[in-house]
Amino acid sequence: MSPRPYLLFSKWAEQYGDVFYLKMGQADWMVLSSPEAIHDILVKHGTTFSHRPYQEIPAEILTKGCQGVLNANYGSGWRSRRKILSLSTSKAAVRGYMGFLTHEGRELCKVLYKESQENGPSGFSIRNIALWHSLNVTLSVTYGTRIQSHLDPRVQQHSNSTEEAFNFGIPEAYPADLLSFLWPFFGHKRREAQRFFEKEFKIQHTNFTHYLENRGKVDAGIPTTICKHLADAIKAQEFTTLQAYILLGETMVAGLHTTSLSLTWIVHILATRLDVQERVHAEMDRVIGKSRLPTITDVDDMPYFRCVLQECLRFRGPSQFLLPRTNIEDIEHQGVLIKKGTWIISNIHAIHGVGSRQESAEEFRPERWETNPKTLSEEAMGKQGERESWTFGGGRRVCAGLHLAEADLYLATLHILWAFHLRAGDGETIDLDEVEDGLINPPPHRRIQYIPRSPDIHDLLMMDDSSSPAENL
Ligand code: HEM
Repeated sequence: MSPRPYLLFSKWAEQYGDVFYLKMGQADWMVLSSPEAIHDILVKHGTTFSHRPYQEIPAEILTKGCQGVLNANYGSGWRSRRKILSLSTSKAAVRGYMGFLTHEGRELCKVLYKESQENGPSGFSIRNIALWHSLNVTLSVTYGTRIQSHLDPRVQQHSNSTEEAFNFGIPEAYPADLLSFLWPFFGHKRREAQRFFEKEFKIQHTNFTHYLENRGKVDAGIPTTICKHLADAIKAQEFTTLQAYILLGETMVAGLHTTSLSLTWIVHILATRLDVQERVHAEMDRVIGKSRLPTITDVDDMPYFRCVLQECLRFRGPSQFLLPRTNIEDIEHQGVLIKKGTWIISNIHAIHGVGSRQESAEEFRPERWETNPKTLSEEAMGKQGERESWTFGGGRRVCAGLHLAEADLYLATLHILWAFHLRAGDGETIDLDEVEDGLINPPPHRRIQYIPRSPDIHDLLMMDDSSSPAENL
């Protein structure tokens, strides 16, 4: 398959329509390429299409029989595990995180400020700094801990682990999922996956034990960590330790790159659009001013800022595909027999582009949202038939971290734009059509300048009195 299958699929969508079928190896695939198609299949027929296709390595080795959330079939086991996650990621739980999320937004700006002083007009890449930021948010919610410095080697280790976990889910890496007669030839891949599982198990064990040993201190800071709810559930014999470790690992996988790459894209897009920055800055000057730091409630009075974030995520996201779905029994849909086990692929590139209802969908135009400047979660959870943006998926398997990701992206971007003018580094070109290949699609590293918007920014950031309850690892 081509390194950018979404481009090929988008081309085929123009040719064959917004629902078309493919045979990949022994597997049937149905590819969805418009908001109508995704709404019809994933939302209206949610009971049928809320399962995940069977992939041997994630199912059998990484989650020991689908004992997590991400690749479990829809049903009672999935429901109970998703429920425990939502105790820490629901809208209400996330309201309780605003203190540390605000703090992380400010810590991020402090690093950007320092780096900008050191690098001057040539600028620097934000990718690893955004990664560190998102890692701290995910670590805080998961274990109640954080990593002090973006240069700490553990940042890259976490990143490599989550990428490795992602890669085990790519059919290309393990074609036996599509051609079962290849299974005997992939023993080495299974052994590699088992080694990965054992390494991850040890990491979860260390982190969970650290939590248990420091529980009083951690709970005093963040009372709703995933660790806390899992520890309670294990005590009540509702969960096994293995299930807890699988769930903790999945949260890192699901939350880390998705959020950090979204933030990276936002910064890259805005660095190319000085006109959009100017409008956001004007809105900020009216709502926040330059003599205090931003807070999450400012977003309520900033409709244009909400449009900008909505458009950034529609225009470029962390991945061009949603997680695949499947049906566990044959079903006839619009006169076509969809055999059980069909891979349902949602091509976001087409849904937000060629298959979109939006005029000039290929252009970055925040104004398209102005008649209804919804928040990211309002778009994802509101009237499904009217949705234009499907970055967080939809229906029963909609992203479990939606509210957390929203609050984090709002606070991080709010702080960055409040503090800085973003400009391409001297001699740097930012081409938004340049995308790295793979299951996740970051922009390449590009140097960006962060020019303080006022001489007081540094002192205000240093005076930050937002709480940092997360314990440093
Ligand atoms: C900008 C950031 C994020 C994006 C774009 C994103 C996107 C997605 C998408 C597209 C799905 C699949 C939905 C579907 O099948 O229809 C998903 C599932 C999921 N996400 Fe996120 N996500 C983000 C952040 C997070 C965070 C921060 C967490 C956790 C702390 C998280 C946890 C999950 C989980 C557990 C699932 C699996 C849900 C299930 O299968 O029932 N995500 N996400």
